[in-house]
Amino acid sequence: MSAPPILEVRGTDVFYGASQILFGIDLAVARGQTMALLGRNGAGKSTTFKAIAGIAPPRRGQVLLSGAPVSGRPPYLVARAGIGYVPEDRQVFPEHTVEDNLVVGAKAGPRGDRHWTTARVYEVFPLLAGMRHRMAGRLSGGEQQMLTIARTLMGNPDILLLDEPSEGLAPIIVRAIGDLIRTLREMGVTILIAEQNMHFCLGVATHATVIDKGQVVYSAGIDELRGNDAILQRYLAV
Ligand SMILES: Nc1ncnc2c1ncn2[C@@H]1O[C@H](COP(=O)(O)OP(=O)(O)OP(=O)(O)O)[C@@H](O)[C@H]1O
Ligand SMILES: [Mg+2]
Repeated sequence: MSAPPILEVRGTDVFYGASQILFGIDLAVARGQTMALLGRNGAGKSTTFKAIAGIAPPRRGQVLLSGAPVSGRPPYLVARAGIGYVPEDRQVFPEHTVEDNLVVGAKAGPRGDRHWTTARVYEVFPLLAGMRHRMAGRLSGGEQQMLTIARTLMGNPDILLLDEPSEGLAPIIVRAIGDLIRTLREMGVTILIAEQNMHFCLGVATHATVIDKGQVVYSAGIDELRGNDAILQRYLAV
């Protein structure tokens, strides 16, 4: 029997008060994949991430990590189980140095592994190495994005969830973030990335799932999506 996906979302409904936002979301990310979760403004990408991270617990359905259910647990236990969530508002501790921000994120992974250390982070994020003693609040938006990704990796997660990492950043910084995600992918990091920026995703993802109005409307390998004009036009307004 093959191994279960690292992350699986099954038949998940999420409500905010009386309004239903997600309708039976199904999603699976296998080890080593970079899955793009695509959809327009308000499609439900961030809500899907919050459902996975335990911040917006599903009313129906399940979230499984390597086959074991994590839904229903509080966010800190979901994180401890191996889900590394980088929310869209990229929070750093502004009055602390880059290095302190990294150290705060350090913990062993779910099986006790400590693959990610500050030394390793500085190898993969050379930009941060040169800034290790700078206050995080002094970094640019793109540098803060890199720092939040690096800090999350310091927790040695089984999967990295990135909510719109390219949002609001200048094109040259978007390219740098894209290069970084490709490097992580080549290192074997499993990634789920929410994006509206279709071109960015075509360059970094191996697979794509498209959601619209809280429902999955398409899921395939990235090359198949690239060739599917109907889906690109209809849901992604390319
Ligand atoms: N706290 C909340 N209370 C009520 N409705 C909410 C709340 N947060 C989000 N919504 C609604 O849920 C829907 C999905 O929002 P969500 O943030 O998941 O979309 P998104 O795909 O991440 O969009 P974007 O690309 O703009 O980030 C939207 O209609 C939004 O208005
Ligand atoms: Mg969002």
